Amino acid sequence: MAISKVGVVGCGLMGHGISQICAQAGWDVVVREEDQAALDKGMGKIEKQLGRAVEKGKLEQSEADAVLGRITPTLDYADLADSDLVIEAITEDLDHKLEMWRELDEVVKDDAFFATNTSSLPVVAQADATNRPERMIGLHFFNPPQVMPLLEVVRSESSGDDAVDLGFEVGEKLGKTTVAAGDNRGFIVNRLLVPYMLDAIRANEQGVGSIEDIDTGMMAGASHPMGPLTLADFVGLDTLAAIADVMADAYGEERFAAPESLRQKVDAGDFGRKSGRGFYDYSGDQPVPVDAGS
Ligand code: CAA
Repeated sequence: MAISKVGVVGCGLMGHGISQICAQAGWDVVVREEDQAALDKGMGKIEKQLGRAVEKGKLEQSEADAVLGRITPTLDYADLADSDLVIEAITEDLDHKLEMWRELDEVVKDDAFFATNTSSLPVVAQADATNRPERMIGLHFFNPPQVMPLLEVVRSESSGDDAVDLGFEVGEKLGKTTVAAGDNRGFIVNRLLVPYMLDAIRANEQGVGSIEDIDTGMMAGASHPMGPLTLADFVGLDTLAAIADVMADAYGEERFAAPESLRQKVDAGDFGRKSGRGFYDYSGDQPVPVDAGS
């Protein structure tokens, strides 16, 4: 099936980036958010990214205008009705996702495909909440979607070959490296990356190293672009804790459990970079580590 219009649900950390790259690939995009403030914030980020690309000479102003012109922000699911593909990027909460898919299933045309950008939740449970389980797959993007080359294409027990083939075609059109991942909790990358970030948090709790030294250690000692605590802030501590809960429940292993200091930060509303504070404080020019108790 040829795609010309993509619906994106959620214009947050991932949704705004997914909307941008889909529009850059030439598709018309309708992006839906729950409230105007969130929608404006996400659209503002897209404008800023496109503006930066123009400043750097990577995009002509006319192309940036055309990309922006292909993205229609909305608060109404009905505006996604004629989408060929709908990608969801809302919060990592199964009940919210199921409710959203049921609503979309009612309004979106029957032959459209659905894709979830979940980091950890079962694709099959979301597929089975719709009347088109064979047309649902996982398309797992990485943060920031504009930059990270990988797309995990997830086949659930209910996915049909057409949907899976479409997932790989979408990846190719977006210029992504694609991998086939099973519908297990965390797929490939988070199955390995999440326990690593959680272990870094535990190492800090146990006094193995300071926040800065753990990050510097992994950057200078293993050539990672970001240390694990900076990465945790970058992913979002609320998201990381939600993934940890799903994985701890699925695998029953202690290494997947959310450490105490992660829980405390989430409870305090310190979600990392997006809220301005997590393992680091982002209110100044440079991030400053937030030591325990401060
Ligand atoms: N949004 C869009 N573009 C961004 C961006 C953002 N938030 N941050 C940086 N960029 C772009 C910059 O504009 C720049 O683009 P050009 O090359 O076209 O100029 C490019 O990325 C490099 O940026 P910088 O030079 O400013 O910074 P950097 O070299 O330090 O790279 C980074 C930034 C790409 C984020 C890099 O630090 C990195 O790769 N970090 C690791 C990110 C990672 O591991 N992501 C996966 C998280 S796990 C996940 O997403 C899965 C999940 O489900 C939880």
